[in-house]
Amino acid sequence: MEQPVVVSKEQNGQELFYPSPDVINAAWIKDYETLYRQSLEDPQGFWAERAEELEWFHKWDKVLDDSNPPFYKWFVGGKTNIVYNALDRHMHTYRKNKLALIWEGEPGDKRTYSYFALNREVCKFANVLRSMGVKKGDIVTIYLPRIPEQVIAMLACAKIGAPHSVVYGGFSVEALAERIEDAHSRVLITADGGWLRGKIVPLKEIADEAMSRQPTIEACIVVRRAGQDIYMEPGRDFWYHDLMSLPISSNSCPTEVMDAEDPLFILYTSGTTGRPKGVLHTHGGYMVYIYTTLKYVFDIKDEDRWWCAADPGWITGHSYIVYAPLLNGATSFMYEGAPNHPYPNRWWRMIEHYGITILYTAPTAIRGLMRYGDNWANRHDLSSLRLLGSVGEPINPEAWRWYYNVIGKRQCPIMDTWWQTETGGFMITPLPITPLKPGSATRPFFGIDVDVVDEHGRPTPNGEEGYLVIKKPWPGMLRTIYRDPERYKSQYWGKFGHLYQTGDSARKDQDGYIWVIGRMDDVIKVSGYRLGTAEVESALVSHPDVAEAAAIGLPHEIKGNAIHTYVILRAGVEKSDKLVEELRNHVAHEIGPIARPESITFMDSLPKTRSGKIMRRLLRARALGLPEGDISTLEE
Ligand code: WTA
Repeated sequence: MEQPVVVSKEQNGQELFYPSPDVINAAWIKDYETLYRQSLEDPQGFWAERAEELEWFHKWDKVLDDSNPPFYKWFVGGKTNIVYNALDRHMHTYRKNKLALIWEGEPGDKRTYSYFALNREVCKFANVLRSMGVKKGDIVTIYLPRIPEQVIAMLACAKIGAPHSVVYGGFSVEALAERIEDAHSRVLITADGGWLRGKIVPLKEIADEAMSRQPTIEACIVVRRAGQDIYMEPGRDFWYHDLMSLPISSNSCPTEVMDAEDPLFILYTSGTTGRPKGVLHTHGGYMVYIYTTLKYVFDIKDEDRWWCAADPGWITGHSYIVYAPLLNGATSFMYEGAPNHPYPNRWWRMIEHYGITILYTAPTAIRGLMRYGDNWANRHDLSSLRLLGSVGEPINPEAWRWYYNVIGKRQCPIMDTWWQTETGGFMITPLPITPLKPGSATRPFFGIDVDVVDEHGRPTPNGEEGYLVIKKPWPGMLRTIYRDPERYKSQYWGKFGHLYQTGDSARKDQDGYIWVIGRMDDVIKVSGYRLGTAEVESALVSHPDVAEAAAIGLPHEIKGNAIHTYVILRAGVEKSDKLVEELRNHVAHEIGPIARPESITFMDSLPKTRSGKIMRRLLRARALGLPEGDISTLEE
């Protein structure tokens, strides 16, 4: 029998999984406690040392400027460009001819890019953008499937100092339109379609409808991916391949010198109320933070083939598909389509085929693949894997064990990384050397001071649930909400003032391990995707038959949470099954298929407070058959 290299031990009635000596010997960091202590005693020293590993056109004068909280600044006075560190600097080393990106499309087509080739494409496209009048500071909206051009487009924008706003390719008309509007984008980059489950997602058609709602777009660049016959508006729409073959798109392009605090991108994410907010990240601090977190947590080495199975349209993809692997000079793998297409062994086949060494994915994907049984995975040689990762929601111990036993063959520690769009990179996470407890993201990363507190901001006793907060600024933190600094202040610093409020609840255990429980606000994590109840409600209300709507999240076996909605129809509208289908499709059309409600219940009234706020908490309690709790504010 094969000897498990990673041993598990019982401690306080809890199973602990220890990494093998091989894993520990290979790891960059061998002593967490000492370095963690030092990093909290002198965070600026810690981060300065990491920043030194990267290149700066001009070194910073000050590591942290905390004179105007919560508007913190990092590496003040420093001049750099994240693309200089992700691409340019590798051109002078052996990495020039190393693979940067390996890509497989859902239909099975394959492409690879060396660092040299990726840099060439980025330069060419950066020249195209410049020739179209895109300047430093202009926000470019990117709405693409998971294809190499998505990575190229993001890097090209960053190279010329134009912040990108990437809209996930699974979003639809209204979601895209409101993001274009908020960013005042003049240029949109999209494709004729992308593959998902053997079908083509009609991105250009969706983009056309969004552009008709938001006429700020003057130029739309279209990548030919699916070979679809699409409408091209003369004077506005241009084929990517046509532009890339023009003489303007030469192979070299100077990288813009950016201030460390200049914006790198905005990424819209769902919050408690209203419309999605544009979370803003910068060239300097974000770069140092994601470079360091990927290096230490996933122990990135030159020999690795790293696969982050997220989408570049979400923060996980921004940080850990696009930027951090390139900053570390790693080889990254990217796959376009669905995990179970055409068969449930698709992922395992690709791991074997490409010799993937580290797989980083979400619990929902693990649960989804787990239900097909072990044989799909067992038929493949997965022995190239050495580390596994999880992100997006708490991983249930059953999925953890399956991932660990069946995929990792008990040889691969699982890095359960807790973080957010706003935090830029991993915040609470094991290192390869950390003893693991299934379901816990374990301990904070270096320089990160977290706590669990009560209503008054006082630390809760071990084992008790409270608000998860972060007590000190860190380089990868968001700088503001684009065009809404007040919202940044109130949303993240409003409750406790000096503590960053994550919106999550958690508890600590006797070993200082953190157990994240979930969102405490009106954000719903559906299959790891972050959606707001307010967005779903406003999509429903935009339908002519709907007077009022409420959305809540309820537990779902595969998705983690599913969206359930309650609708009051306008007077005279008849309830019918057909209308239920129509409303579900309407939400999918406006926001995207991920937001399609699991259920729609017609109501004559909704529970509200006397001030007119919908009591979603009460709807949830009723749906789950739980006690209704305090209903003193309920209006009769
Ligand atoms: C949740 C995704 C438990 C959490 C990177 C957080 C997690 C929200 C974990 C942010 C994890 C993310 N364990 N919960 N390992 N990772 N979350 O902005 O509720 O899409 O606040 O960023 O996901 O979602 P976002």
